[in-house]
Amino acid sequence: MQPPHLLLFLPLLLPAMWADPEAETQVFQLLQTSLFANVSSAEVSGVALLGDMPIFALDPANWNIHFHWPWAHQATAEGDAEKIKSHSKLFLHNMVRYVHEMIQQVQLDYPLVIQIRVGCVLHPNRTSWGFMDVGEGGRDLTAFEVERQRWEPQQSSLLAELVSKSLNSKKAVTGLLEHLLSISCQSYILTLCKYGRADLERQEPPVATVFARTPRPDQLLLVCCVTGFYPRPISVAWLRDGQEVPPGPALNTSTILPNADLTYQLRSVLALAPHDGHSYACRVRHRSLGTRSLLIPWENRSAAPTIGITIAVLLLVAAASAGGFWWWKHRKSDEATWETQEIII
Ligand SMILES: *[C@@H]1O[C@H](CO)[C@@H](O)[C@H](O)[C@H]1NC(C)=O
Ligand SMILES: *[C@@H]1O[C@H](CO)[C@@H](O)[C@H](O)[C@H]1NC(C)=O
Ligand SMILES: *[C@@H]1O[C@H](CO)[C@@H](O)[C@H](O)[C@H]1NC(C)=O
Repeated sequence: MQPPHLLLFLPLLLPAMWADPEAETQVFQLLQTSLFANVSSAEVSGVALLGDMPIFALDPANWNIHFHWPWAHQATAEGDAEKIKSHSKLFLHNMVRYVHEMIQQVQLDYPLVIQIRVGCVLHPNRTSWGFMDVGEGGRDLTAFEVERQRWEPQQSSLLAELVSKSLNSKKAVTGLLEHLLSISCQSYILTLCKYGRADLERQEPPVATVFARTPRPDQLLLVCCVTGFYPRPISVAWLRDGQEVPPGPALNTSTILPNADLTYQLRSVLALAPHDGHSYACRVRHRSLGTRSLLIPWENRSAAPTIGITIAVLLLVAAASAGGFWWWKHRKSDEATWETQEIII
């Protein structure tokens, strides 16, 4: 049998290459917050993230590690990660003892909050850099420079100087940190990507709704709510008579906010004068849609400002008839542009 022509498979291969987590910059970080209430107490909590994906959390009650995914557990049972995990309680005990000692030595007052951010960045070309930052009371205190194996004060205070100097004198620790941050951390990212591929590459398509508000008789606000999408990058734009509305004072797009289910949401608001005679649509582009766009026209008559999936579906159905005609009409004039690739769902 003849092998099938490679070109036939290209469309199947491309999306997979697109979503390859190893083809993107990956950041692994461990965020730890410790509250030292008095000389005999320390409350430690922590969470580890790969990009925006939670990997594990530290139980403040017993310092056990709880994995968010079976694959995260599996990945942590390999290589240096396993050694670090088996020593994690010892590391935490040493850290707590060290902070109490420093508090006595510098004669600081309780309570004290120490935050640590430690991890590494891995680029697609396999270069990487590690980082470890320590903060006190919400301010940067000292940071570890991996290549020089040195702690550098991040504020001009006696505390920052003393802590950096004292940490620099612990050569065994700086040597170990250098190894962990420049070698172990990168290989942990690669292992996590290998075992967690299905969840890391997961794609959730956005659901969008469009409605209008009238804060003043002379102003109409068109709101486009987009939610439930993953991964985070997304493009949301307003079209006026089929042309993208450029950024300006009338356009206000929120930052991307997380939902509770590891998806994201945002909204874009366009201010206009009522009955301005133009047609408007909200256009959403996202990796989960491939080269298609979601196009939700604003129906002048649909005045009810109701949000919900049912409405979204109804609007999408409405878009299929209204938008389909619009697309057909614009097809000839816009042949070479993006618009021709838009499929109205
Ligand atoms: C220290 O702080 C903890 C937590 O706030 C509290 O439960 C404990 O009673 C305190 N101990 C002393 C000796 O003050
Ligand atoms: C690898 O990629 C990063 C980010 O794109 C870049 O800053 C760095 O210079 C690259 N390193 C090499 C050796 O190509
Ligand atoms: C954009 O929206 C935010 C939040 O609703 C609001 O605080 C801000 O004033 C708005 N900006 C403009 C230019 O309308």
